[in-house]
Amino acid sequence: MSRFGSIAAEPVSLLLRGARVVDPAAGTDDVADLAVHGGLVVDAADLPSGAVEVNGAGLLAIPGLCDLHAHLREPGDEASETVASACRAAAHGGYTTVCAMPNTLPPLDEAARVAYVQRLAAEASCRVRVVAAATRGRAGEAQTDVGELAELGIVGVSDDGAAIASPRVARSVMAYLASVGLPLIEHAEEPSLAGGAVMRSGAIATRLGLAAWPSSAEATIVQRDIELALETGARVHFTHLSTAAALAEVRRAKRDGLPVTCDVTPHHLAMTDSWVAGERRFAWDIPLDADLPRLDPERAYHGSTRLNPPLAGRGDALALMAGVADGTVDAIATDHAPHPPERKLVEFDRAAPGIIGLETALSLGLAAVRAGCLSLDALVGAMATRPAKLIGEERSLAVGARADVTVLDPDATWAVEREALASASANTPLLGMELAGVVRLTLAGGRLAYVGGLDGLD
Ligand code: DOR
Repeated sequence: MSRFGSIAAEPVSLLLRGARVVDPAAGTDDVADLAVHGGLVVDAADLPSGAVEVNGAGLLAIPGLCDLHAHLREPGDEASETVASACRAAAHGGYTTVCAMPNTLPPLDEAARVAYVQRLAAEASCRVRVVAAATRGRAGEAQTDVGELAELGIVGVSDDGAAIASPRVARSVMAYLASVGLPLIEHAEEPSLAGGAVMRSGAIATRLGLAAWPSSAEATIVQRDIELALETGARVHFTHLSTAAALAEVRRAKRDGLPVTCDVTPHHLAMTDSWVAGERRFAWDIPLDADLPRLDPERAYHGSTRLNPPLAGRGDALALMAGVADGTVDAIATDHAPHPPERKLVEFDRAAPGIIGLETALSLGLAAVRAGCLSLDALVGAMATRPAKLIGEERSLAVGARADVTVLDPDATWAVEREALASASANTPLLGMELAGVVRLTLAGGRLAYVGGLDGLD
């Protein structure tokens, strides 16, 4: 049994007994009781008598996850996803906040459209924060009215799906953003270097005969925007970074004290360009001296492995992982990009780029922890605490904090199948795989966002 709730519902009163509670904000990792009442984390002694008690033995309680980058597809592409279905997928994946990207149809480039999405989200299963477009129509020319959009509580602006190609326009957007304190969320892809390419350059692309873009396409935009951040004082956040080269630029800029942040996706950490040839081992499981993968006739050229930025090599994936571990990477963001079968089950170079991620991100992160690539604290910090802080939200399990809580069974496994997903789309190369980490309960502001398989609450 499982069910979804709404952030507009009444808060629950609940005592979770004896779970492992991991809270990076407090630096704690203890077996403890966690009490929730009136939308807040409370002292167990302050619970009313009717509070539900749940046995937390063997479960993990962490702050509610926060996704900086998700495509909710509404308005305009409701066959792929809606705000409601994306929020159910988010709650199912342990998220209590998702940031909605603006490449909808029409794009979120004016206040009325942003307000429309916010209205759709008012009774959803998790909180939605909006990223507005940086330029009108995402055309990279006239900038949007950031002042007016900022009044609606947007978390930043982005032309995601594409970079702002013109340095002049990017500079002018950033100069404007500096005055309102919001970041440019940049999709770093220099169009003349990446144009027409569908994959990452390297031996695999050569073997597959696919047009490929070099990592310099990402690094050159990152270098440019760091320079513009220095000059304008604006914050820049690079989203879905995919290469060691770009990450090195970010590391240098951070060391110089510049207002630069970044996120990476779970799939760029776990998967490599060899997945396009049919590989299905995670990046950390592929030996350093592995031969080029043989083409798997069932899986090679599968549209589900096409995304933007393209999957990169093992070295890039492991460099990004090291960035998460040392904090250079501020957040793991899903880039949840739902597409219907007719846009994915086609020739690789005609497939729409994107992978769904809201329901698989935590399991992929836990797999990295199990493989010894990350501490649990670093994973939760990158999926909950730090991204929330970037958008002005708090994630804490201390008494008095807003009760954004995710409870999961880290050892239970689930099969990634269409029927197991709350998303309206199922475009992921993980389909058919068995993953560990099952979310049992998601509370957003103390409201029941999702519950599944939890004795006492189901
Ligand atoms: O793979 C991607 N899909 N990358 C993007 O930048 C856009 C996204 C989408 O909207 O489908």
